[in-house]
Amino acid sequence: MNQILNFIDANKERYIEELKEYLSIPSISTLGSHKKEVARCAKYVADHLKIIGMKKVKIHKTKGHPIVYGEWLGAPGKPTVLIYGHYDVQPVDPLNLWNTDPFTAVVKDGKIWARGANDNKGQNFVHMKSVEAYLKTEGKLPVNVKFVIEGEEEIGSSNLEIFLKENKKLLACDTVLISDTSLYAENSPTISYGLRGLCYMEIEVTGPNRDLHSGSFGGAVANPINELAKIISKLHDNNGKITIPNFYSDVISLTKTERDNFKSLKFSDNKFAKELQVKELQGEAKYSTIERISARPTLDCNGIIGGFTGEGAKTVLPSKASAKISMRLVPNQNPKKIANEFKKYILTLAPKSVKVEIKELHGGLPFYTSLDNKFVVAAANSIGKAFKKKSVFTREGGSIPIVVEFANQLKSPVILMGLGLDTDDIHSPNEHFHLSNFERGIYSSVYFLDEVSKL
Ligand code: BES
Ligand code: MN
Repeated sequence: MNQILNFIDANKERYIEELKEYLSIPSISTLGSHKKEVARCAKYVADHLKIIGMKKVKIHKTKGHPIVYGEWLGAPGKPTVLIYGHYDVQPVDPLNLWNTDPFTAVVKDGKIWARGANDNKGQNFVHMKSVEAYLKTEGKLPVNVKFVIEGEEEIGSSNLEIFLKENKKLLACDTVLISDTSLYAENSPTISYGLRGLCYMEIEVTGPNRDLHSGSFGGAVANPINELAKIISKLHDNNGKITIPNFYSDVISLTKTERDNFKSLKFSDNKFAKELQVKELQGEAKYSTIERISARPTLDCNGIIGGFTGEGAKTVLPSKASAKISMRLVPNQNPKKIANEFKKYILTLAPKSVKVEIKELHGGLPFYTSLDNKFVVAAANSIGKAFKKKSVFTREGGSIPIVVEFANQLKSPVILMGLGLDTDDIHSPNEHFHLSNFERGIYSSVYFLDEVSKL
């Protein structure tokens, strides 16, 4: 074990230089213009898996972006750990708010700054580097390992879902290890036992057949922006509850044990608000901030489009307005069911003076897992050992839609051993990853493979 850890320490600088290369590829999955770059990134991952000593490395083509697979199965009789991650990243706009180029990674203040530094290149590189350290020192791994690194997580993983269903044998494993979530706080080793689901909708409101002069027509013709705003304002009541009928019908209430666990984490509302520079927090009545951001369902308008938004003033009564609205879901809410309730309800809120069209963009099921699984215990011990502290258990407020599919299709427990921080600005300008978490992550991964070999 010491030899492996010494190897990691001795090669730290090289590891970071290699991560910079990985981060230099603009693998933005949602932009058609970047298809070649996404493919180049898949090639980088495949080559890297070969370099660290994985066998049968293959780039699997899909209808969308490729899936990279690699395995090392030289430990017969030992458990198999499937390590999942994604090499695709989010777009970088607004580019003018970045302090450095998003695809030229720089190390500064103990962090590495670039798009994907945390989400998810930095976090999946951790596991490649732990495997490398094992194979370069001991010549073997203590367990069997399979890597699945995909290129479509940020757009919903629909092709990986198909691949999973068609390749259950190839992907068969005893547990799935994922680092794509957050630590509860700095220096706080964390295992997440839940993820929220997602239901993403778009509402388009149309008024008159063309843009009108707001002086000649305003007052007599419905303004789609005004009407859309009224609709959105009706989606929450004064207690912060979502007003869509049956929205909460399938929500499993929090148990006393779980609420006690949340209390024991001593979340500071003050610190949270201060860091965001807001005077006051708000949300669903009778729930704490940590419950609101991880264990309760929410509805947020993500974007609103309409009318004149250029420089200066233009008096116009626009013909159209639209809004993107997403809902984060918790067990046992179902995105399809919620989408239907949403559609029905929005139509009841719209006046006859406008036409309303509602589209379902994408969704994902929420995830929740038991804590008394031996692999989860091993994971908590491993990350605790690397951070030299006792692990905490939280639910992640974000979503990783493929996780439920892993659990259901492969029938293997999924471990969410996240190494990011909620303040790392993922999906935002100046994304970064703490190098201390990168290093401790590699240690956690090494310890985990070792612990699993003893189960
Ligand atoms: N790594 C994130 C999930 C996450 C979000 C972890 C927040 C920790 C904090 C993942 O890459 C992601 O962004 N998921 C999307 C889901 C999607 C686009 C279907 C999300 O949560 O918005
Ligand atoms: Mn993401």
